[in-house]
Amino acid sequence: MSTPSKEKEVKKAPAKQEEVASVKGMRDLIGKEYYDFQGFMEKAAEISHYYGFKPIETPVLENTEIFTGSVGEGTDIVDKEMYAFKTRGGDQVALRPEGTAPIMRAYLENGMVSWPQPVMLYYSGTFYRHERPQRGRHREFRQFGLEVIGSEKSIGDAMVIKTFITVLAEAGVKDVVVDINSIGDKECRGAYRRALLAYYKKRLPQVCADCKNRFKTNPLRMLDCKAEQCQPIKKAAPDTISYLCPACKQHFKEVLEYLETLGIEYRINNALVRGLDYYSRTVFEFITREEVIEEGKEPTTLETVIGGGGRYDYLAKALGSKKDVPGVGGALGVDRILLLKDLVELAPRIIKKPKIFFIQLGFEAKLHSMAIIEILRKARIPIAQSLSKDGLGVQLATAERSKIPYTIILGQKEVIEKSVIVRNMDTRSQETVPVEKLAEYVKKLK
Ligand code: HAM
Repeated sequence: MSTPSKEKEVKKAPAKQEEVASVKGMRDLIGKEYYDFQGFMEKAAEISHYYGFKPIETPVLENTEIFTGSVGEGTDIVDKEMYAFKTRGGDQVALRPEGTAPIMRAYLENGMVSWPQPVMLYYSGTFYRHERPQRGRHREFRQFGLEVIGSEKSIGDAMVIKTFITVLAEAGVKDVVVDINSIGDKECRGAYRRALLAYYKKRLPQVCADCKNRFKTNPLRMLDCKAEQCQPIKKAAPDTISYLCPACKQHFKEVLEYLETLGIEYRINNALVRGLDYYSRTVFEFITREEVIEEGKEPTTLETVIGGGGRYDYLAKALGSKKDVPGVGGALGVDRILLLKDLVELAPRIIKKPKIFFIQLGFEAKLHSMAIIEILRKARIPIAQSLSKDGLGVQLATAERSKIPYTIILGQKEVIEKSVIVRNMDTRSQETVPVEKLAEYVKKLK
């Protein structure tokens, strides 16, 4: 085989711009956007800790059946949106489209059933759904989630909602309302299902093709339909609350009582069934409302679903547990939240405003620069630098542009004398400080 000629190699490069694009619907987080996500996740984790939640991280890949058996065949997430594939070893795996089924899997697999109940967990990470990308809808997106597993008490539902509301308030999300509904349990679902089928049977010719299908496979999903033609039919459909058994009615009443006592604004939404099959009893969504003003038009209110959740008392059995394990939880769509206006800037803990700009002059100084930075790091003094730059002028200019109050200047003379110059950028006064006293000296600076 002949080696390619130099000429041919040259022709191949450089790669075209589109050849180095990320996968459609997935993006890089860089700079401020990265810090915004990190800051939000840290704040959410901190608040959740106060409410008693502990962290968990599960793998991004799960066996596909974790989702098909729980989120449910017949749901958009499983049927149309899941990134599922066969590995080289022949395993059927899927990129997680959501976090609840994997966490219940982890609960069962790790014997959390023998821990004090309920087990309260929080998590954050990336999730994957093959949806049509648009503003606030990505194929790789980020959630912050909470799960309370091992108790069917209504206070669990309230605790999840309250913790999320607190996170949203701390992030500066304004005008949030909780849409809430109860879809009942095994007891009441049968009667409701029959009523729904009877109602839709008469109207089948008018509904969309998807609903005709759902009528046979998963009738509750008809209430989740977004097609224009199905909306009036959906609106007049029987509501789940009228069919609740006494135990479910009581549970729902208690959840609403908690919300009222906590001063959380809610709307009972009879059409809310959610797009995942594992729910029972309480289901909820967090909706933000923003006024949209377009020239020459009446102002309209834009509603965005920034999170959702509910109770999943039968999920454990669907995953293979011998016993039912009740649970309740939810997740916030962080990509959507960070698009909202007037948020509070939540800086991540690692970001500290630098007090010092470190300047080095000459190779000798460069050689010693990292030892000085290490002294400052150990003393927890945040600094900025541009170690790859050489001249004094360019480094001073950077320090001035960044509005950092002090600079440390290390030149050849200072290296020999084991000292540095500390310069006040405001008054331009400067002082020579021995390296061994540097940390102490800088700490005292305002
Ligand atoms: P979900 O409603 O499917 O619930 O997702 C929660 C939130 O994630 C949504 O309200 C939305 O804000 C955001 N989200 C969903 N899909 C996308 C997307 N393609 N791009 C951007 N954001 C998106 C669940 O995932 C359940 N596991 C929640 C739960 C936890 N239920 C009980 N425990």
